[in-house]
Amino acid sequence: MDMDKLVSLSKRRGFIFPSSEIYGGINGFWDYGPLGVELKRNIKDAWWRDTITGRDDVVGLDCSIIMHPRVWEASGHVGGFSDPMVDCRETKERYRADQLYVFRYDLPTGKDGTPQSLALALTGATVEDARSSATDRLAQMARKGTLGFKLKEIPEPTSLPYLDLAAEDRDGVIGPSATKPGTLTEPRSFNLMFRTNVGALEDASSVAYLRPETAQGIFANFRNVVDTGRVKLPFGIGQVGKSFRNEINPRNFTFRSREFEQMELEFFCHPEEAAEWYAYWRKTRFQWYVDHGLRSDRLRLRDHERGELAFYSTATADIEYSFPFGVSELEGIAHRGDYDLSQHQKFSGKDLSYFDEERWERDKVGLGMTSFKEYLRKNEGLEKPGYPYQYMPHVIEPSAGADRATLAFLCEAYTEDEVGGEARTLLRFHPRIAPVKAAIFPLVKKDGMPELAEAIYRDLKRQFNVFFDEKGAIGRRYRRQDEAGTPFGITVDGQTLADGTVTFRDRDSCRQWRVPSAGVVEAVRDLIDGKVAPSGE
Ligand code: GAP
Repeated sequence: MDMDKLVSLSKRRGFIFPSSEIYGGINGFWDYGPLGVELKRNIKDAWWRDTITGRDDVVGLDCSIIMHPRVWEASGHVGGFSDPMVDCRETKERYRADQLYVFRYDLPTGKDGTPQSLALALTGATVEDARSSATDRLAQMARKGTLGFKLKEIPEPTSLPYLDLAAEDRDGVIGPSATKPGTLTEPRSFNLMFRTNVGALEDASSVAYLRPETAQGIFANFRNVVDTGRVKLPFGIGQVGKSFRNEINPRNFTFRSREFEQMELEFFCHPEEAAEWYAYWRKTRFQWYVDHGLRSDRLRLRDHERGELAFYSTATADIEYSFPFGVSELEGIAHRGDYDLSQHQKFSGKDLSYFDEERWERDKVGLGMTSFKEYLRKNEGLEKPGYPYQYMPHVIEPSAGADRATLAFLCEAYTEDEVGGEARTLLRFHPRIAPVKAAIFPLVKKDGMPELAEAIYRDLKRQFNVFFDEKGAIGRRYRRQDEAGTPFGITVDGQTLADGTVTFRDRDSCRQWRVPSAGVVEAVRDLIDGKVAPSGE
């Protein structure tokens, strides 16, 4: 699938627009149009229902985007949430140093016998990705007369990450858009958090940050939820909301944006049960994408190598999707141990441990004790005197991006096929996430068909997002809905007037079958819920 085609369809049909486009756009920010907002909302709703309200052991939360700045000190974001960055002094462009690779071409010796070489820096998520742009870059330099060699003289290059380049070799490297060598700066750290000031004073005391993840709001509210939510371990707290990262290199359409939405769950459990819950969420989250239409041969679960793990994590896996621009992360599932709660306990000075009252009540007689204080006294001096009754819960964190999920579902749905010898473009969304669930058409604008169709439309509209269209040839109306990803077409035709049934049409197979008009709402609900197959039988 060609990414350009998807970007153009997204714009043409109102899924995704560049932000502030009338002013030339702003890099890393996107707007969702009428169809896109429904698609993304359906994805977030499906996540919320399946992860929170559909379960007995998870509750929801919606916390503020700007939080106390100490939150980000405790989480490590103030000190460590940074990418190494390289600037080009000539073009003023900025690159992520870990996505910059140097390709070195050793050329035939010059007339005076001196060895000659060319070192080009190119960007890419991987070295192969960067290498794939080398031919174009060399050809462009040749056209502009800045190559200095004949294209046919250029041999195969050797490559190395820019971060591994010795400082003294940096001066010989030509930047990705530069015309001469030596314009790239040394890598330096760049904090990805957006800073702002709270209140009228713009000084150090008023500095605050737009949250770079929703997770920390959950940890900061852990005590509140335990005290008021009647929750017992194991349980989770989920949140969906905007996050902001001043990404150095926003790219690949909405994949890496500066403002995006996350769907995060922090699942708290007893340390002894954490490995089991990790395995559970790793599997459950993978299956969620498959169930909503991502084919598992484009999805993969990649377990992090030991060296990739954060120091507090014993296991992490990424759910990755094969996008047209490469295989990239959709969601991470991390076993975070008790790192986050311990950090917030340390920085806030508030006790964030959990007391398992049920377990204590069950065991205390066997232990021959009447109070927990007695138990603590007995274990005084131990590292965890209250264990296994009072402890810092361990956390399993499935952290997903709503925009990345939307992009993956769009890529997966995009299909070109032929119907009746005519090319068509369609979006094969799962009915649960499709922006519009059904389109209702009167076959012709006479014989009472528009009135009957409108009555069905009004009935459906009370429960589903549906669309009414009476303009143009029926084939064209079907095509327009196929392109919007509407799974079902409902047509009021001549037979409706005779026997009260309407034609249902399935977007993907174009198969048609008849349904009594009185049962249309139920039929659509059953189809969305997957209770019946879209067919005539
Ligand atoms: N609390 C953990 C956390 O935030 P992360 O891997 O940095 O982990 C989780 O982010 C998810 O958020 C990613 O898998 C991705 O889906 C989404 N995400 C992160 N940065 C993003 C960006 N710049 N643009 C779009 N989505 C992003």
